[in-house]
Amino acid sequence: MIVVGGSSSRYLAKELASILGCTYVQAASTRFPDGECYTRIDIDSLNDDVVIVQNTYPDENLVEMFLIQDAVRRMGARTITLIIPYFGYARQDRIFKPGEPESAKVMARHLSMVCDRVMTVDIHKEAVLNHFDCPHRDLKAAPAIAGYFKGKNIDLVLAPDAGASARAADVGEHMGIPHDHLEKIRLSGVDVRIAPAKMDCRGKNILIVDDIIATGGTIIAATEQLKEAGAKSVTVACTHGVFVGNAVERLTGSNLDGIFCCNTLENKVSSISVAPLIAAALMEKE
Ligand code: R5P
Repeated sequence: MIVVGGSSSRYLAKELASILGCTYVQAASTRFPDGECYTRIDIDSLNDDVVIVQNTYPDENLVEMFLIQDAVRRMGARTITLIIPYFGYARQDRIFKPGEPESAKVMARHLSMVCDRVMTVDIHKEAVLNHFDCPHRDLKAAPAIAGYFKGKNIDLVLAPDAGASARAADVGEHMGIPHDHLEKIRLSGVDVRIAPAKMDCRGKNILIVDDIIATGGTIIAATEQLKEAGAKSVTVACTHGVFVGNAVERLTGSNLDGIFCCNTLENKVSSISVAPLIAAALMEKE
């Protein structure tokens, strides 16, 4: 097996290759003066099972992925597995208003053209995977998050909304501690309201678990409610730290006591590695 890392996931891809004990090659990607992507896989042959690790977000990484796929196929890859740690466009999974495209389906169909298998991590809507014309699997980051926080004095795991409750339950069960969820009302793309916490938060160290942090609005609102309800500390763990604009600064300047993300998106708070769970999935017999 050979692991090829795209520029969005170079540390994750390298760690994955190290766990698997296989060859790692970094796609040498640069930009032409006009911004177009140039990439090259600098290795003599890829006559092996090849794993490409690259996000499809933002759009420039999606384009880089298409180019890497073509280069890898041309260099003789026997099979191609796409590891897409953060699959962009998963939130645009259906037509909300007439005249819109089915964005997630468009991306999945195009990515399927040059690959044999796809793995994602905590994709926002699992149904999106059905648009891939090849075997596909979504890996769950919950065990990695639970492993990271085990023994760190957390009393309660909470989801910021009902939609994330299964994820919080998964983390709570892996840690052997209680879990619950808050109620969120989305007012606009940036504004959310979290209803006052009904559970007993007094004196508790609470871990909020979500799949995505974008503007940070959800987590800031949830933290305020939990602190108002008497929580001793509020820490957040998310799979994908998208962090739109100054979200990290807003979060670190809020009442939150700690912020930790998985390395599906590589940034200064992505300290929880999903490489071991991707490696385990790749080593499983089909
Ligand atoms: C919503 O369905 C997601 O699970 C996240 O809660 C949401 O994307 C977070 O967005 P923001 O950080 O902008 O509040």
